[in-house]
Amino acid sequence: MTLATAMPDAPAVLPATTPEAPPSPAAVVLRTGRPDDAPALLALIEAHLEEGHLLPRSLSELTRRAPRFVVGRTGARVVACAELAPLSASVAEVRSLVVHHDARHDGVGRQLVDELVRRAHVHGFDTLSAFTHRPGYFVRMGFSLVPHHWMRDKIAADCHSCALFRRCGQSAVVLSLTETARGGRPARR
Ligand SMILES: CC(C)(COP(=O)(O)OP(=O)(O)OC[C@H]1O[C@@H](n2cnc3c(N)ncnc32)[C@H](O)[C@@H]1OP(=O)(O)O)[C@@H](O)C(=O)NCCC(=O)NCCS
Repeated sequence: MTLATAMPDAPAVLPATTPEAPPSPAAVVLRTGRPDDAPALLALIEAHLEEGHLLPRSLSELTRRAPRFVVGRTGARVVACAELAPLSASVAEVRSLVVHHDARHDGVGRQLVDELVRRAHVHGFDTLSAFTHRPGYFVRMGFSLVPHHWMRDKIAADCHSCALFRRCGQSAVVLSLTETARGGRPARR
């Protein structure tokens, strides 16, 4: 079962700003991805492939999976994205997390991850994971480092076929959504 099937009506994304802080013209607004976002998503991901050590994506895959994405826009321009990708019935992964340089250091990355956490809860996942060269970024948001072999579904899905298998330098991080539901995540430090 694909996530698109499992999540036919992805919930609306909360606005990036609060009523107390009206959006400035440059504010990034988040919403659910649409198939017609795919070319912009591809361009954004490809521009940051090397920097983010991201998995390459294709236009057809992004068109199919666009509804799994949270997309950040300033006006009509796509400046940020992240995908909630299911690895199993209980584990989902943060994939293709990118914020364009123009929109960084303003909490947009954290808002994207917060939104994926919310969606993962809604869709009944127990764990949100990421494979990353930036474990510190995720640890700041409450994720924990775990051994790669804990992530069997990820390894079966993406790692066995990868040229960098066993030498990729990525760290596995996970966030327990059952603990998050009980105690919440740490505030930004
Ligand atoms: C990682 C990324 C998404 C962060 O986007 P962002 O919108 O700037 O993120 P936020 O504003 O929520 O947080 C930025 C903060 O995280 C901190 N941070 C970044 N990397 C960090 C790390 N490895 N360890 C700890 N903190 C880190 C920064 O110091 C920054 O703090 P500052 O704003 O006070 O300088 C963005 O840099 C990016 O797109 N990088 C290229 C792609 C990539 O690496 N994706 C992640 C792959 S898993």
